[in-house]
Amino acid sequence: MTTYPVRFLLNGTPVEVDVAAQDTLLETLRNKLWATEVKNGCGKGDCGCCAVLLDGRAVNSCLTLAVQANGKEVVTVKGLGNEDDPHPLQESFIRKGAIQCGFCTAGMIVSAKSLLDENPRPSPDEIREAVSGNLCRCTGYKKIIEAISDAAPKCSPSD
Ligand code: FES
Ligand code: FES
Repeated sequence: MTTYPVRFLLNGTPVEVDVAAQDTLLETLRNKLWATEVKNGCGKGDCGCCAVLLDGRAVNSCLTLAVQANGKEVVTVKGLGNEDDPHPLQESFIRKGAIQCGFCTAGMIVSAKSLLDENPRPSPDEIREAVSGNLCRCTGYKKIIEAISDAAPKCSPSD
């Protein structure tokens, strides 16, 4: 099978990986770069679990070809913060109890980050719209909307 070298920044670190033309960014991140924080839910664009930032915009990585990331910047939920230095969205999701099983959380936070970068003070309806492509089977969404709303004043685009 013909493969192509693809280079991009992954959470700030330059990576190079050989991919086939049909490989998705999701399978490349998880299976070749071990970015298993990016979740594989439906694999067809329905659930938002696999969302990552591609040059700052949230995309479903299951619908994005790995070759499309060439020369770009990919940020996963891990690139936003960690246990020692959490992003305000991560801190708010924990504090508000917006995480139950956690399967949707990585994609939810990535979508929220993309929203807040464009619209730093979104209304609850705007938040609902922004995460409408992210399915959660556990929380009923109320705490998720509250967590994003609470985090908004504490976020800056550079976070
Ligand atoms: S795994 Fe990509 S949208 Fe569901
Ligand atoms: S917390 Fe379980 S799917 Fe959202």
